[in-house]
Amino acid sequence: MIAAMDISIRKAERSKLQDLNLDDLPFGHYFSDHMLEADYENGEWKNVEIKPYQPLLLNPSVAALHYGQAIFEGIKAYKDAEGNAFIFRPQDNYKRFNISAERMQMPQVPEELFMEGMRQLIALDKNWIPTRQDHSLYIRPFMFSSDEVIGVRPSDTYKFMIILSPTGPYYSAPMRIYVEEKYVRAAPGGVGYAKAAGNYGAAMYATAQAKKKGYDQVLWMDAFEHKYVQEIGTMNVFFIIGNTAITPDLNEGTILDGVTRQSAIQLLKEMGFKVEERHLSIDDIIEAYKAGLLYEVFGTGTAATISFIKELRYKDFVMKFDVENWKTAPTLKNWLTDIREGRREDKYGWMYQI
Ligand code: COI
Repeated sequence: MIAAMDISIRKAERSKLQDLNLDDLPFGHYFSDHMLEADYENGEWKNVEIKPYQPLLLNPSVAALHYGQAIFEGIKAYKDAEGNAFIFRPQDNYKRFNISAERMQMPQVPEELFMEGMRQLIALDKNWIPTRQDHSLYIRPFMFSSDEVIGVRPSDTYKFMIILSPTGPYYSAPMRIYVEEKYVRAAPGGVGYAKAAGNYGAAMYATAQAKKKGYDQVLWMDAFEHKYVQEIGTMNVFFIIGNTAITPDLNEGTILDGVTRQSAIQLLKEMGFKVEERHLSIDDIIEAYKAGLLYEVFGTGTAATISFIKELRYKDFVMKFDVENWKTAPTLKNWLTDIREGRREDKYGWMYQI
């Protein structure tokens, strides 16, 4: 019941937009004029407010800072040539948000708070949606525990918020990837499938080690044998081997159920590929590479969209890819961009109009 959700709106006195060049935006550095904030107390969501973007005042004992009950989502809004604003597949992110919440023993966020709150916030800050190629308005819904108690237990109170960041490409150039054999991102039974803040913090050490060796990101492998591929950096990963597109399956709960991943699967099928969601070992990848059948490797993610991998290093074996002559990943990227910006038919009903 959308009407049941009472959202109060307090507008900023002056827009910061005039101080910003929307044509030159690094990822996640700037935030729009308004934000949404809501509180969970005594088993219900209340104080739902859209107000000027501003700092939070937090007690140092606030539970999220100590024990990491914190989850988030990443969604993007675009404009078509007529200036109409759309959000890409927000319902899918909404569902995943509550899956993450359940895993982290946090309350469910009602659909009307997430969806209608986001819609009203974006309607208010619509002018912040950049129109330049590869640019969009990145939407960051998040929730954290807010009890001011440092006993280890699920919090009784939570904050749900949405902030908006006009943004450019996350990874702008093709990437060099280090196949990680020591550190792991996720194990069966863990929180790999949840968009939990700690997953990202826990990945930083291994990523920093790979960067020291001259790589942009790591390819995460399974926790037991370090043999089966999982994800690349903050993205899902696809391998084009012959006329088959292969991406790791979600069955063990170690892989994030990416919305861009789901979209890529759909569009690759539309292109005529056989798509397999399954275990894929690094040995099979190397074998395909040596046979000349490993054509393309790319990552998919909301922030990253489609990111091309130009090099993959496993131990001392280096696989290099001729990204300039690729067909599939560039087509996929163009199709997605064209759907998002209204130049290609939205036949799967992905675009949610504001
Ligand atoms: C996203 O793709 O939205 C992500 O969550 C990646 C990252 C910026 C944390």
